[in-house]
Amino acid sequence: MTDRLAVFGNPVAHSLSPEIHQMFAESAGISMTYEKVLIPLGEFKETAREFFRSGGKGINITVPFKQAAFDFVDALSVSAQQAEAVNTIVPQANGELKGFNTDGAGLVSDLQSNLGWEITSKSILIIGAGGAVQGVLGDLLRAAPRSIVIANRTASKAQALAVKTNDERVSAVPLGDLSGNFDVIVSGSSAGLSEVGQGYALATSLMHENTCCYDMIYAKATEFLSWCGALPVTQRADGLGMLVEQAARAFELWYDVKVDSRAVLDRLRR
Ligand code: ATR
Repeated sequence: MTDRLAVFGNPVAHSLSPEIHQMFAESAGISMTYEKVLIPLGEFKETAREFFRSGGKGINITVPFKQAAFDFVDALSVSAQQAEAVNTIVPQANGELKGFNTDGAGLVSDLQSNLGWEITSKSILIIGAGGAVQGVLGDLLRAAPRSIVIANRTASKAQALAVKTNDERVSAVPLGDLSGNFDVIVSGSSAGLSEVGQGYALATSLMHENTCCYDMIYAKATEFLSWCGALPVTQRADGLGMLVEQAARAFELWYDVKVDSRAVLDRLRR
């Protein structure tokens, strides 16, 4: 029987997940369908319940339902607990629906394996304090950085996130008060996404010549990366690799097979 998988979101038309998972399935010799499902706001739970009742194998969850998915599942992985958000649901042998969050593991895989950037013992600056950032903090910390500074336009949100990690390596600094420099800068901010020119300005002194700059956003020239592009920074990347790697971790949860995510990323880039 052909397995049924899906991504639930709103909007969802732009999602690359079906393409990515079909490539994984083909290379693993697995027969499945993977559809995009546009869920009306407020209808996540009913739709998800019905999907699994009718034999669905698994779903990915994207904006704005990751918190609804967190509330919906019967059990949670450690990453999902820390993120307070679920992007992958996997039915368990005991009948429970378990929620995972593979975004942080996806980011760490992209940084370390695809890009070859060091995180362990490094100083990391994270810009933004929304769901995207909360989603990756736990996994970033497990990669053993020396420190993580969270900077956000609304300083109180950065502070709240930092406190929640309960980890002395993490601190929060208002965007305007940043000082020193960082080995890795990760933008998890949506600044400039819809309103070009409305982004934030960072001091160039926050970087040294080997600083690596990463934007979790993909498929759009972001202000953060164009700002980096104007500096003598040699290492910068958008979030396409994170997208592929979070999908790879989800696929591995459903099928317990290793996938060649690098090949899929290369194909998407082409
Ligand atoms: P997501 O779930 O994608 O993380 P979010 O929770 O709305 O979305 O978070 C968006 C992030 O981008 C926040 O950190 C937000 O800053 P505030 O907490 O101050 O709102 C940041 N952001 C959005 N627009 C911005 C702008 N014009 N300048 C600076 N930061 C901005």
